[in-house]
Amino acid sequence: MSADDRRVPSDRVRQNRRLAIAGILSLILIAIAAVVVGAVSGGASGGSAAAPETETPDPPRPSPAAAPPPASVDTFNRAAFSIDDPASPWVVVNKLRPINPEDFEPDDLVEVPVEYTNEPLLRQEAADAAVAMFEAAFEEAGLELASNSAYRSFSAQENVYDGDDLTTARPGFSEHQTGLTMDIGPLSGECSLEECFADTPEGIWLRDNAWRWGFILRYPADKTEVTGYSFEPWHFRWVGTDLAAEMRETGITTLEEFFGLPPAPDYA
Ligand code: DAL
Ligand code: ZN
Repeated sequence: MSADDRRVPSDRVRQNRRLAIAGILSLILIAIAAVVVGAVSGGASGGSAAAPETETPDPPRPSPAAAPPPASVDTFNRAAFSIDDPASPWVVVNKLRPINPEDFEPDDLVEVPVEYTNEPLLRQEAADAAVAMFEAAFEEAGLELASNSAYRSFSAQENVYDGDDLTTARPGFSEHQTGLTMDIGPLSGECSLEECFADTPEGIWLRDNAWRWGFILRYPADKTEVTGYSFEPWHFRWVGTDLAAEMRETGITTLEEFFGLPPAPDYA
C-alpha cells in the first residue's frame, strides 16, 4: 500500500464509516426518544420529568394484632343499690351507721329450712341462698352446717348485747336486724361462735366458698379497726352474688372499704 493509498480511504472504509455514523445517529435518536417518552409519562403521573417512575410504598400501619389491649375498665356499679336503706341488699350497718328507723323490720322474713340451734328467719333471697349453700357444703365437701342465729329484732338484740362493744352490737346497730345475716357453725357444735371455728373444715369451707351464694365474712381478723368488731369467722352477711364476687375479685374485704365509708371502730 502506497502513502497516497493511506490518505485516500478505500470504498470499503468509507462504507464502514457511514455505517458507524448511522449507528451513532440511531443511538442518539433512541436516547432522545426515550427522554421525550419519559417526560410525557412523568407529566401524566404528576411526578418530576427526570424522576424514574417508582411505586411509593404506603406508610407502615400497625396491625390490629399489634395494637395494645384496652386497659381493663372496672364496670361494677357501686351505686346500683342503696347503702342507707335498711331494706337494700347493700345496706351498711356499723357503729356509725345505725339502722334507720331503729325499729326496722323486714317485710319478707321467712323460716330458713336448715339445721339450727335457734330457729332462723331471714329475708327470702338470703334464706334461699343459705339453703343452697348448706346443701353445697354437704354435697361438695360432706360438711354439715347449722345456723346459730339469723334475724334478730331490735328487742332481741337488747337481750344479746352484753356490754362488750367489740363482740356484740348495741340494739339498732346490729346487721342481724336487716334479716340478711346468719351466724353459722358446724352441726356438731364444735367451736360454734368461737374463733377456733376459723380452723375447722366448716369454717375454712365457708371462708372460701360463701361468696358463691352471695355471702361475705363480715368481720375479718385483720379489720377490727374498720368494722369495730373482733374476728367473727361465723358471721356471714348476704349481699348478693354480684357484690360478693366483686369484693372477692378486688380483694376488698369490708363493706366500709368497698363503699369508701369511714372506719367505724367506735360509736359516735
Ligand atoms: N356480733 C355482732 C357484731 C352483732 O351483735 O351484730
Ligand atoms: Zn352475727
